[in-house]
Amino acid sequence: MDSGEVLLTPGPVMLHERVVRALAAQPVSHRSETFRRLLDETRGLLEKMAGGGRALVLTGSGTLAVESMAWSLVGPGDNVLVVSHGEFGERLADTLRRRGAVVNVVESEPGSAVPLDTVIGELEKGGYDAVAVVYTETSMGLSYRETAKLAEAAKAAGARVLVDAVSAFGGEPVPPPGVVDAVATASQKALAGPPGLGFVIVDEEVFEKLRSRGVPPGTPNYLDLGKVARFHAERRETPYTPAVTLIYGMLEALRVIDEYGIGAWRERHRRRAEALYTQMPLEPLVMSCEHRAWTLAAFRTPVPSSILAVKLAARGIRVARGMGSLKDRVIRVSTMGWSPEEALNNLPRLVREILEEVER
Ligand SMILES: Cc1ncc(COP(=O)(O)O)c(C=O)c1O
Repeated sequence: MDSGEVLLTPGPVMLHERVVRALAAQPVSHRSETFRRLLDETRGLLEKMAGGGRALVLTGSGTLAVESMAWSLVGPGDNVLVVSHGEFGERLADTLRRRGAVVNVVESEPGSAVPLDTVIGELEKGGYDAVAVVYTETSMGLSYRETAKLAEAAKAAGARVLVDAVSAFGGEPVPPPGVVDAVATASQKALAGPPGLGFVIVDEEVFEKLRSRGVPPGTPNYLDLGKVARFHAERRETPYTPAVTLIYGMLEALRVIDEYGIGAWRERHRRRAEALYTQMPLEPLVMSCEHRAWTLAAFRTPVPSSILAVKLAARGIRVARGMGSLKDRVIRVSTMGWSPEEALNNLPRLVREILEEVER
């Protein structure tokens, strides 16, 4: 099935032809040597892309990756500082509260970044067990490029650092494991894979602790990264039945990126985003250039985003609307995946035409 629509949504994204072909195959047993080799290669490429650490492969979306990271690395009663820039920052705080952590949130005005000094000042008060942050806040198109510096301050204060990089990993230089403790991501965004897989890439030391000491009490089995770490390390398998055919597709997507060049792949996102920010006849939601994401660009719309989105869909292009209170005032355009360059190049002109048509 092919809808013929160009997807410029921040996930799922368009797949490379090789990935589409790789998905169409009979599943192998997840207890076979063939599967073990696929898992090894998938994990190896994720670790190469992360710049180190150990990759844990989960069947489920980005939410599962973030929840597994939160439940496995934070215990009930832990004090956690959440740096939030929007919807996904709030979800991260909510997940940690459900886990039983005592959560303090620092947040900013919509579209602006929390000053690093505010975070450092909060950490200096002491008593934090962990800091959690979304690297690219998908609701705003905001990348928190202070994350590495934040991590340095957090480590100095004895706090673990958890990063939701679901819409950043692969498309932006996310700080590597070692600098941070864990990075959660998913298949269907800047890794240009099929939706349905989640990944948590953890620091080597964290991996060893998860494997040997397990996770805090009360962690549901499916969120238990200690089990995943043990199965990966001891059997080169997953604890439960994985989405084998999605792993075929994901592995092919990673091979394609590896051949393209990991640095070149990130640069492709930066270049595509830069073109959008300069050419779109709309005001970017994020005012400071240093915080504008590479994997998606968000713009304020003078007409309701519903109208703009529907009219773009009628021209064969699907974009996303805003989230939460910004739903009808913002559109979000993804640079991720294998969407044709031509569609991105034509978008500013199409938007201009639609605005003229609506405002006439
Ligand atoms: C930053 C961020 N975190 C978490 C998620 C949740 O991922 P999923 O929809 O794959 O569960 C998303 C999805 O857009 C996201 O952008």
